[in-house]
Amino acid sequence: MRRLRTAVLISGRGSNMQSLVADARDPAHPAEIVLVASNDPTCEGLKWARQEGLAVAGVDHRIHASREDFERVLNITLGIHRIELVCLAGFMRLLTPWFVKAWAGRLINIHPALLPSFRGLHTHARALAEGVKIHGCTVHYVVPAMDEGPIIAQAALPVRDDDTPDSLATRVLSLEHKLYPHALRLVAGGGVRVQENRTITGRDGREQETFIVPPLD
Ligand code: GRF
Repeated sequence: MRRLRTAVLISGRGSNMQSLVADARDPAHPAEIVLVASNDPTCEGLKWARQEGLAVAGVDHRIHASREDFERVLNITLGIHRIELVCLAGFMRLLTPWFVKAWAGRLINIHPALLPSFRGLHTHARALAEGVKIHGCTVHYVVPAMDEGPIIAQAALPVRDDDTPDSLATRVLSLEHKLYPHALRLVAGGGVRVQENRTITGRDGREQETFIVPPLD
């Protein structure tokens, strides 16, 4: 079985990247993670990946004159590693339409909210401020507009009376660690078709699971 050569882009601690790497250690996984890259060469996640013996690349955005220059170097790095699919996992740089279009259909992201609610930052504090009872995370294809693009899979949990932004962040993060590996398997396995702004994931007459809800405790 040919496995899709996949890169994970991070900016910080990289816990989502670690969950993707752990799942893709399965030789039957349709994706092979062959590169972990970051715009911050000193970040924690990159150190972890290096220790694991993965190929890593630090492309420091601060030494490039423009966003475009940074992305061109990033794009060349992806090319050198013959990358076919890119997973953004806590990658905190906005990507230009040029880069996003170059990777259209091959670039996915995880967002810590149930899109289309709470695009952008501080999603957990904003969810609490709005008083929502359900919160969660979303894996979606990346399009030029931030946190838009066809949704691949979502996971949800109930908001508790005593939740704080931190407690919600912790519970959503552990859901992210289940959702992202699941979504990567779907995408890399060829089980996801995009139709306008939707993804169709049914295959051979069977629905694929694209919604995760942990049991209530
Ligand atoms: C995650 O919550 C991700 O959804 C968001 O930033 C956080 C990154 O965490 N975009 P990590 O670096 O994967 O631990």
